[in-house]
Amino acid sequence: MSALILGIETSCDETAAAVVEDGRVLRSNIIASQFHLHERYGGVVPEVASRHHLEVILQVIDAALAEAGCAWADLAGVAVTAGPGLSGALLVGVNTAKTLAWAHGRPLLGVNHLEAHLYANWIEVAGRPYREPELPALGLIVSGGHTDLVLMRDHGVYERLGRTRDDAAGEAFDKVGRLLGLGFPGGPAIERVARGHRARRRLPRAWLRNSDDFSFSGLKTAVLHAVRGEEGPPPPVPELAAAFQESVVDVLSKKAAAAAAREGARSLLLSGGVAANGPLREALVERSPVPVFAPPPVLCTDNGAMIAACAHFRFEDVRAGWDLDARPDWRW
Ligand code: KG4
Ligand code: ZN
Repeated sequence: MSALILGIETSCDETAAAVVEDGRVLRSNIIASQFHLHERYGGVVPEVASRHHLEVILQVIDAALAEAGCAWADLAGVAVTAGPGLSGALLVGVNTAKTLAWAHGRPLLGVNHLEAHLYANWIEVAGRPYREPELPALGLIVSGGHTDLVLMRDHGVYERLGRTRDDAAGEAFDKVGRLLGLGFPGGPAIERVARGHRARRRLPRAWLRNSDDFSFSGLKTAVLHAVRGEEGPPPPVPELAAAFQESVVDVLSKKAAAAAAREGARSLLLSGGVAANGPLREALVERSPVPVFAPPPVLCTDNGAMIAACAHFRFEDVRAGWDLDARPDWRW
């Protein structure tokens, strides 16, 4: 018998719900993005985010069930992001999931958002040949809040190799996007304007030798100096965007590929919002000693499908009681 899991995600600025079968087959995937609400502030406003989650979450869940053609009684479980993330935003998802799971007599599953990003790589996508990632795998999670390099030895068995010491990769994209007047979120905007342009001036790369950690704040400052014309006339925006992107992609891809080789990984899993970046995906494929997995862009940014997939593979470990609470600082 196949197992259907409903996955709910509200940790930041996406209200999302999806139904996934056996951790792999995407039956529905509904994402209500709030970016238009936060755009004018140049970043996510936590209070605005929670209020909007509350307004749309029930519709989003209903739509996910309807699109999957599935009733509450068909569900093997209700999975929800318990952390890390914005506390008010997480609470909306956790309390909704708890209430609905209890009311419909379904098991409740509390999932870690970062672990779930990795599981986006287990989801089958129509039109793409399916291959299951082989373990151990090297995971590079690059999102608005995190830049983590982890070794996934088995389901639920992780070793964190490195993390950012300052800005997350996505945060750097967003801040530089703002510096260049490209709006929010900066990642997709930078990728778009940089397309077809090459950096004439090279921006710095923080290699942090002998460590799997990352640092992007120096690069951000270098862009600021360039924009202000402190090192000669400011280069055109597309060129600066290209130089910034090149630097981030270079560091992420080289360090991830080197770690995969050193740790004897059998696959490299890219995930998180920044994994939607085309040049990053290409650079990893070129440099990685092992097959690279990257979800389609819609599954790179926050979504409910990855929450459901993660809950499927970790079912017994993520079973939660009715006292499940949001864990904004969940370290994993
Ligand atoms: O995973 P995600 O949706 O939310 C978090 O958990 O943070 O990631 C959002 C981040 C934002 O910083 C956004 O600028 C970045 O992912 N991003 C990209 C691209 N698409 C989204 N960064 C670079 N290139 C992209 N195409
Ligand atoms: Zn995320």
